[in-house]
Amino acid sequence: MRIVLLGPPGSGKGTQAARLIERHGIAHLSTGDMLRSAVAAKTPVGLRAAEIMERGDLVPDDVVIGVISDRIGQPDCANGFVLDGFPRTVAQAEGLSALLQVKDLELDAVVELTVDEEALLARIEGRARETGGAARADDNPETVKRRLDVYRRETAPVADYYRERGELQSVDGMLPIDDVTAQIDGALSAPQTGKFAGTSG
Ligand code: AP5
Repeated sequence: MRIVLLGPPGSGKGTQAARLIERHGIAHLSTGDMLRSAVAAKTPVGLRAAEIMERGDLVPDDVVIGVISDRIGQPDCANGFVLDGFPRTVAQAEGLSALLQVKDLELDAVVELTVDEEALLARIEGRARETGGAARADDNPETVKRRLDVYRRETAPVADYYRERGELQSVDGMLPIDDVTAQIDGALSAPQTGKFAGTSG
């Protein structure tokens, strides 16, 4: 099973991805986590990404497409994967389509978590509190605001990209975590019309 999870910062992509990988035995491909590992390890990608991420901006498309291209060829992705935080621009969505085509693979679902923006800052503040001293460098109110601006400008059009292709399913990310999981399960098992079905949002 190959799934894309879309949604703004704090919408619950990571939370739901963790459940999907457990249930379906698939790999969790979070570009945010991969980039944070690269930053911590001071790899060339990490050195390029560190300042950009701290500002709340997007790492260049060619860098993240390269990271994903390497990753989806690895053995743990043979059974499928959840993409969490990728694609984040229309160019990345096009890059992903091209990558999958070359590998003769298709997406099974593109799920968008819809949320009220006012709730997101509180959620991210909650996460930062939970992680204490290990809080993410970009989990402060000023950078979260920037991340939301970037989301609206660069990533919201990705939902439109998949909606126009009849591939987008929207789930109410404001529900309690278990209910969001249930809605995603419903979206994944919905009978398909055309390639995808369900609540094209
Ligand atoms: P990334 O790591 O992807 O962060 P993000 O998209 O901003 O998302 P978050 O991790 O903040 O939130 P989430 O949606 O996973 O929510 P979570 O489940 O944690 O990206 C970070 C940076 O890396 C980017 O800004 C960019 O610089 C760079 N980057 C990454 N990918 C890139 C790409 N493709 N291209 C270019 N640059 C890229 O939940 C948040 C909190 O809410 C938790 O405490 C959780 O417990 C709680 N919660 C979750 N669901 C619910 C619920 N239903 N009800 C109540 N609380 C909930």
